[in-house]
Amino acid sequence: MTDTHKNSPGNPSAGSSESPAEAARRLRAQIRRHNALYFQEDRPEIPDDAYDRLLRELEELEKAHPELAKGSPTAEVAPPPAGRALNEVIHDTPMLSLDKALSVQEILDFEDRVKRFLGSNELFGFYTMPKFDGLAVELNYDKKTLILASTRGDGRRGEDITQNVRTIDDIPKTLGPGAPEGPLFVRGEVYMEKDEFSRLNEEREEMGLSIFANPRNAAAGSLRQLDPTVTQQRNLKFFSYGLSDPKMAQAETYGELMKNLGHWGFPVEASKASKVNFNLAEALAVFRDLEAGRDSLPFEVDGLVITLNDLGLWDRLGATSRAPRYAVAAKFKPRAAKTRVLNIEIQVGRTGALTPVAFMEPVMVSGVRVAQATLHNEDELKRKDVRVGDFVILQRAGDVIPEIVEVDLEKRPVGLIPFVFPKACPICGTPSVRKEGEAVSRCPNRSCPAQIEARLIHFAHKNALDIDGLGQKVAAQLLSNNLVKLPTDLFKLTVQDLKSLPRFGEKSALKLIEGIDQARTKALWRFVNALSIRHVGERVSQVLADNFDSLAALSSATNDQLQAINDIGPEVAKSLLDFFQSPLNHHFLADLMDPALVNPTKTPPQAEGNLSDKRFVLTGTLKSMTRAEAKARVQAKGGRVLSAVSKETDYVVAGEASGSKLTNAQKLNLTILDEEAFLKLLG
Ligand code: IVH
Repeated sequence: MTDTHKNSPGNPSAGSSESPAEAARRLRAQIRRHNALYFQEDRPEIPDDAYDRLLRELEELEKAHPELAKGSPTAEVAPPPAGRALNEVIHDTPMLSLDKALSVQEILDFEDRVKRFLGSNELFGFYTMPKFDGLAVELNYDKKTLILASTRGDGRRGEDITQNVRTIDDIPKTLGPGAPEGPLFVRGEVYMEKDEFSRLNEEREEMGLSIFANPRNAAAGSLRQLDPTVTQQRNLKFFSYGLSDPKMAQAETYGELMKNLGHWGFPVEASKASKVNFNLAEALAVFRDLEAGRDSLPFEVDGLVITLNDLGLWDRLGATSRAPRYAVAAKFKPRAAKTRVLNIEIQVGRTGALTPVAFMEPVMVSGVRVAQATLHNEDELKRKDVRVGDFVILQRAGDVIPEIVEVDLEKRPVGLIPFVFPKACPICGTPSVRKEGEAVSRCPNRSCPAQIEARLIHFAHKNALDIDGLGQKVAAQLLSNNLVKLPTDLFKLTVQDLKSLPRFGEKSALKLIEGIDQARTKALWRFVNALSIRHVGERVSQVLADNFDSLAALSSATNDQLQAINDIGPEVAKSLLDFFQSPLNHHFLADLMDPALVNPTKTPPQAEGNLSDKRFVLTGTLKSMTRAEAKARVQAKGGRVLSAVSKETDYVVAGEASGSKLTNAQKLNLTILDEEAFLKLLG
């Protein structure tokens, strides 16, 4: 047997008895599988250089045995090797999210918020529309012709999916009569019908490919393809629901806006749920009907979007940096499923929290395969009394996070023992601590390997420094090889360091280093969130970044300075002070303040405007608008509204019955605006 391939490099899996024909078959199957993972599914399993080695091996084998070369993937046109990613598209008007209402009470709260903001007690009309469970896209038309299509991405930066969108029949490539000639940005949802989803998964199962968890993932996976012919085969559909600038709609109400979208050639949802409602009671009835009838719709919906109908009010209410104030997504109750608990494990989080996690027989809950669920803490576990071997009811809270609702006690087998919560950290053995009044037991050892790993993973998390490719596996590898001790050691890594690790090739090493380099200058709030300080999550980090210009400034803030900030209470302030004063964090903080390593970007003003970066403090009551409205209008012009007066304050807006803030402002000789001057400044 001439086994030329056997000694070739990078051929670990070839058995010694493998013939050239068998080896060729094996390699082809592997290459085809990785091609599908890489090009069709966007989730490669091996680094590029490992893939290249497989291909090279097959090529060499075929050179030695030309009779084996027929129909081989080596002869196929190579799929595009470089630029795995789609191009970036910047959304000039960010694609925002929607606030959620998880109960009827929260829908009522939404209307209350609107009333408070507008300082009005009138009844409002609403437009309701199903909340489609697909993928938000923006379509850009010029001279009535589709020129660009993009995903929402993080709201500000999406991906260019123009070529893929062109294959969707529902999406007009040119617009009908009456549509604006000038640039038009239409927003809507690309989705996959339930039947098409089942058909696709059946087909994939037959082909031995992984199945999509739900229609939403299937739509997303189909749209974010490098090869548009794949998208074309997936029968995606589209509903429009808005414009980036509603003023382009030639309409006064959202209902008219939707009608116009229909006239211009866009598909608009036309079930009984898409309609104008005289008041909120009517919208609530639509919500109940849609929830009851959701299964009879051909597509997945996960709630009802309730939006004020009057576009003039949209203007007044505006949006926070996250979501518009004039709409809410009322979500349906999660659906439940039954399964059995196979094991309960204690996981150690980045702040040392010991979290019990149940591992279960996999089960589908509203279309998603679920195999584990958090039991939150010792008390929750005790309250639900979940035991290994129990049958449990599972829900996905907000249709996302799987949750054990209760144990089916009737089905409990005899002899199951209650779970005993450990008194020590399962990883480092340090006795755990549970503070009075707290439900969480913690491992107090900040040097516990599990905590270090969890903090490193969090440092790179999407909501922190967002470093692609740094998940659990890579984090564990970096730590166990002593390449990283502190998260900031990431900024000292070289390509050479990474290449010394198993499964890292030149390309994957370069890619990770590039991701780390990009993180060096990310927004300040991301750095604050990356620190893993207790009680300091994404929202608090944003508040802190709004109030401090650098990590150095934040780290030397006093208790009083911290608590003077709205939203920062004594607990958060204490946690921050503890963190910044702890000698354990000395090196970490020194790295974070070393400009040779990182340069966090100061929080950009919320919008471009003539008040860019100006600091306001509001006090007293204004006649023409509420406090909330005033704050929003300052922010819309790029200004910042802070709660405490300091010498850094640019303007103090003093309404009627201004209190101590006004006196302080006078003492500090600050610019004080009365209502008239304030309105003038706002233009
Ligand atoms: S927005 C502001 N309408 O929800 C009022 N969003 O938009 C204009 N989504 O991820 C309506 N169905 O993909 C709107 N009928 C609908 C929607 C909808 C689904 C999604 C959208 C985005 C998020 C926020």
